[in-house]
Amino acid sequence: MQGFDKNTPRESFGSQIGVIAAAAGSAVGLGNIWRFPYVAGENGGGAFLLTYLAFVLLIGVPAMLSEFVVGRKAQRNPVGAFRRLAPGSAWPAVGFIGVAAAFTILAFYTTVAGWTLEYLYLTIFDKLDHLQKKDLENTFTTFVASGWRPVMWQVVFMLLTGFIVFKGVKNGIERSTKIMMPLLLLIIIALGIRSLTLPGAAEGLKFLFRPDFSKINAGVMLQALGQAFFSLSIGMGTLITYGSYIRKSENLGKTAISVSLADTAIAILAGLAIFPAVFAFKITPEAGPSLVFITLPMIFDQMAGGVIFELVFFILLAIAALTSTISVLEVAVAYFGEELAMGRKKATILSTVAITVLGIFTTLSMGPMPELSIAGLSLFDLLDKTSANVLLPLGGLCIVLFVGWKLRPEEVVSEINNAGTLKARLAPLFMFIVKFLAPVAIALVFLNGLGLFGFFGGGDL
Ligand code: PFF
Repeated sequence: MQGFDKNTPRESFGSQIGVIAAAAGSAVGLGNIWRFPYVAGENGGGAFLLTYLAFVLLIGVPAMLSEFVVGRKAQRNPVGAFRRLAPGSAWPAVGFIGVAAAFTILAFYTTVAGWTLEYLYLTIFDKLDHLQKKDLENTFTTFVASGWRPVMWQVVFMLLTGFIVFKGVKNGIERSTKIMMPLLLLIIIALGIRSLTLPGAAEGLKFLFRPDFSKINAGVMLQALGQAFFSLSIGMGTLITYGSYIRKSENLGKTAISVSLADTAIAILAGLAIFPAVFAFKITPEAGPSLVFITLPMIFDQMAGGVIFELVFFILLAIAALTSTISVLEVAVAYFGEELAMGRKKATILSTVAITVLGIFTTLSMGPMPELSIAGLSLFDLLDKTSANVLLPLGGLCIVLFVGWKLRPEEVVSEINNAGTLKARLAPLFMFIVKFLAPVAIALVFLNGLGLFGFFGGGDL
């Protein structure tokens, strides 16, 4: 099959490990280490975790597999994939929403990714040492609102992302994630052990694992679903794009399960690294988005050997973010490169520049340009909330509906069992889920969470 560049064949991942490293790299990101702990903290800890796990298993894994099926079958970017599999229909719109979501997600995601670089810098130059809580809060809020500095780090981060994507699927994405993912795993395990061995850590475990079902309402359920989609990178065509680079001999079902389990394990490990430490130092966990930038430095400061752990933690965050940003950028690059026939290099430059510009405005909305806000939400909050809680669930809903109802079941099953060469015993269960369970569950949680039905009191986004 012809690639983005006229005279080369379409690229693919070179090995099973490469596929898993790349897809888990996309899934494991700020969503696991920065977002999951604070969203869980704000929504009741253990009860949230259980709801989240149920969504990952029942909806997340099948939705991920659906994206792989669409991508690999079509061998195309998200827009081209729907065009090829459902010519002359409105389905390519789902792909377009995905490409648009790539822009909105990267715009705020690289803001936060940039913060991790600033905190790496602050740690290396000892600038977080012996600061009181008030000073740490000050450091964070002043920095975030300061304009040029967060913008500078954001641009650096986008350039790093662009550089890897520029080098292509095998030499850029696969090669870099194969190095970064094992490193990430090592770091998070080390941090988890450190946190769990602190005196008083047990309280944190209780908070994370003891469910209090009275905390669950429609709003919490939507947050859990949004977080599951965000964390697994589902709903905007990232996994359609990566799926299109998976060779016909790989087992898609196994890949979806491995990647989802790895992502969930890392979210729990992040919880284990953060909450025991938070409770050991008697801090309230509902700290919101600033949890890792204010609370953690405070803890590291009081911990024996804290600077080392702090350094390693921010390296972890930066790596996790980078393996995700490349997957999002690849959606835009695959679209421009393939559909508009510009080739990878031009498409990478164009998308990187365009997203950087949007990103800069997002960062500025948190400080120098407060007028960039709608309905009281800054551009940053707006993009964060609408991407996770609106765009991704809607995208995910369309994708499972497409696989459940638009493609013929034989075609879907043949893609899952590699034209009859694999057993794929769970294929009938998968078909049932994508036809009925997942669409109904996503639609209910979505509408409820938005408060349209008013059941259980509706819910805030
Ligand atoms: N899954 C990433 C994370 O958890 O940080 C974020 C993300 C990547 C969301 C790719 C959506 C996406 F398509």
